[in-house]
Amino acid sequence: MSAVNGSSNGTAKGSGFWLFASNFFKHPTMLGSIIPSSRHLIERLLAPVDWSRAKRVVEYGPGVATFTRALLERMPEDGELLVIELNEDFAHYVRERIHDPRLTVAHASAGELDRWMERLGWEGIDYIVSGIPFSTMPAHVRDEILRKTRDGLAEEGEFLVFQFSNAVFPYLKENFDEVDRGFELRNIPPAHCYRCRADGA
Ligand SMILES: C[S@@+](CC[C@H](N)C(=O)[O-])C[C@H]1O[C@@H](n2cnc3c(N)ncnc32)[C@H](O)[C@@H]1O
Repeated sequence: MSAVNGSSNGTAKGSGFWLFASNFFKHPTMLGSIIPSSRHLIERLLAPVDWSRAKRVVEYGPGVATFTRALLERMPEDGELLVIELNEDFAHYVRERIHDPRLTVAHASAGELDRWMERLGWEGIDYIVSGIPFSTMPAHVRDEILRKTRDGLAEEGEFLVFQFSNAVFPYLKENFDEVDRGFELRNIPPAHCYRCRADGA
């Protein structure tokens, strides 16, 4: 586990596009797309968020911080954002490029959510946003991440997911009481969107 907290402002985009594309050729199944998410996908996935209660937010797999920037732009000043990224190049990129006191960058797997919550002293998360590729990871890893995600959500907490196939849908239904589905065509590739809630999460 390793972490860094930001300190002031700054959201330079730098070479994120090329870093993302070159990592796609190294780890195609971990990324699923050759380019970062479009603004249309970001708007659609984040549309249900009530920003006034987005105080503790987690993002799985920030990549080159396309969602991270959008989250920080919208979150309240007293909010906290934990991003958990498995790829060291991307974790390093986010640490170097985004300096915001609300942000913690974890170079780790989403399956370590519980350890990070303990480390930060968090009891419940308001929103977890994710584009990690559930359909290409081993089933036991997927199941562990979904279980820890459900357990980590606060009451009224929501899990907002995008995927490039619908394969995860049955597993979301297994772990959450309500799962709403949508689809965003204006992304490469087009993406399935899910909004998941658990009764008394
Ligand atoms: C489809 S890309 C999304 C990147 C970025 N969020 C975006 O929307 O452009 C998936 C990201 O999840 C990361 N990832 C894959 N498996 C992961 C895991 N188990 N835990 C954390 N991050 C993971 C990849 O390294 C990659 O950055």
